[in-house]
Amino acid sequence: MKILSVTSEIYPLIKTGGLADVTGSLPKALSPLGIETTSLIPGYPRVMRQLQQTTPLLEFDDLLGERATLLHAQVEGLDLLVLDAPALYDRSGGPYVDGDGKDHPDNWKRFAVLSLAAAEIAGGALPGWLPDLVHTHDWQSAMTSVYMREAGCMTPVVITIHNIAFQGQYPAGLLRHLGLPPEAYSMDRLEYFGDISFLKGGLQTADVITTVSPTYAREILTPRFGMGLNGVLNERVEVLRGIVNGIDMDVWDPTIDDFLPQTFDIANLRRKRENRKPLLERFGLDEDDGGPIFSAVSRLTWQKGIDMLADTADEVIHNGGRIIIVGQGDHAIEQALLQTAARYPGRMAVHIGYDEPTAHLVQGGSDSIVQPSRFEPCGLTQLYALRYGCVPVVSRTGGLSETIIDANDAAMSARVATGFQFHPVTTNGLRLALRRALHAYEQPKMWARLQNQGMKTKFSWERSAQQYAAVYRSLAHKASSPQTGLRRLKFW
Ligand code: ADP
Ligand code: GLC
Repeated sequence: MKILSVTSEIYPLIKTGGLADVTGSLPKALSPLGIETTSLIPGYPRVMRQLQQTTPLLEFDDLLGERATLLHAQVEGLDLLVLDAPALYDRSGGPYVDGDGKDHPDNWKRFAVLSLAAAEIAGGALPGWLPDLVHTHDWQSAMTSVYMREAGCMTPVVITIHNIAFQGQYPAGLLRHLGLPPEAYSMDRLEYFGDISFLKGGLQTADVITTVSPTYAREILTPRFGMGLNGVLNERVEVLRGIVNGIDMDVWDPTIDDFLPQTFDIANLRRKRENRKPLLERFGLDEDDGGPIFSAVSRLTWQKGIDMLADTADEVIHNGGRIIIVGQGDHAIEQALLQTAARYPGRMAVHIGYDEPTAHLVQGGSDSIVQPSRFEPCGLTQLYALRYGCVPVVSRTGGLSETIIDANDAAMSARVATGFQFHPVTTNGLRLALRRALHAYEQPKMWARLQNQGMKTKFSWERSAQQYAAVYRSLAHKASSPQTGLRRLKFW
């Protein structure tokens, strides 16, 4: 079965968060199941620089008025179609924001064009290659199925919601620039509280909607977590599924991780402790006195609740712990964290930035990873934490609630506990969870048991890839033969 995956990020080429980890690792997990994935991605400068050999396949001379070349490339086992459209993608900054952290003003066009190119490919633009199914991810590629259906292309589409907070919401006036007829501005397509929403369009036109954990699949049906789209999702609940993310066991493997000063495994946790010194030095913290190191590697946005960690820093530090935070995002949150760290020199460090090797070092040397998210579709850092012998402290929401087993008495005696959960998701809730973790750390046997149980947990892609494969196969009966009579969309 041939899948066209359409995504705005893919590890190892371009990453701002877990979306890239998933789109980069799922194809490898699907391959042994007979599913070949080709991923369509934008040709950002960072992507173009990393491509060794490319083959031009197609010239688009009018994608919403833009020219683009479609290139084929292979990178670390990923089969890629790269949309090289310099006017849209060749610029400084990240995939979504400029150097000052502001959204690129033409994001609507950048991702509508990506989606349109995908729809063209699904409709047969590439001679000799036609996907059996298209898999889109989040709002950035959600318009793919809108364009496909508009052109009469009925190839099955699966859309995965990684985070419903990002919806691609724009003024209705943009509609005609999207090359869509006025009818597309309707309740069952793009209309969204007087605006248009790319994500809504995708949810309305895909055959199956998945999200990245069963708990989040239930949560987004409610007003609190659905963020305006709960009505649409309730109408389509029959086709909504939750499939928990897996992790790339090769990229996140403490036994061979090149970013760690000392590799280790479950049988040799003593070696993990050798990463403490380099970690503390890297962050300019006081010399090791054996106290617990609580860390976070996270986007710094309201979602992630790292502000609550800053508000509870006194709990950790007055009890002999240290705090390390690595992340970037919201300027106000960054500043508040830096100010808190300044109050605890030698005990708390905040590093604003995005840096993959540091993320690995933090997992390798810390005792605990704290993820106090206000909502969390799945979350991957807590899964990496389990594999790296860190004991996670997490809020009970979304994927965090089902991937971490709270260390209550029952779970401890059943030897299944892997971390600490708290609810309600408040500063006080987090404070109590940190207190429990600090108390457990004082009991080396208990802590070692938690580490062991966590490291034994299986979060490889195996099971989840089978679930995706089952979803794909359930749709395979739908047409995928070259579709005749497709309307060429007219773009201006
Ligand atoms: P989200 O996708 O919501 O940001 P996830 O937990 O699913 O959350 O994935 C986050 C991914 O991004 C992980 O791979 C994590 O290591 C990485 N990450 C987040 N912030 C940073 C950072 N500042 N530096 C390096 N890696 C980061
Ligand atoms: C999103 C979510 C995160 C999830 C990731 C990958 O960014 O915030 O919870 O793990 O996507 O699916």
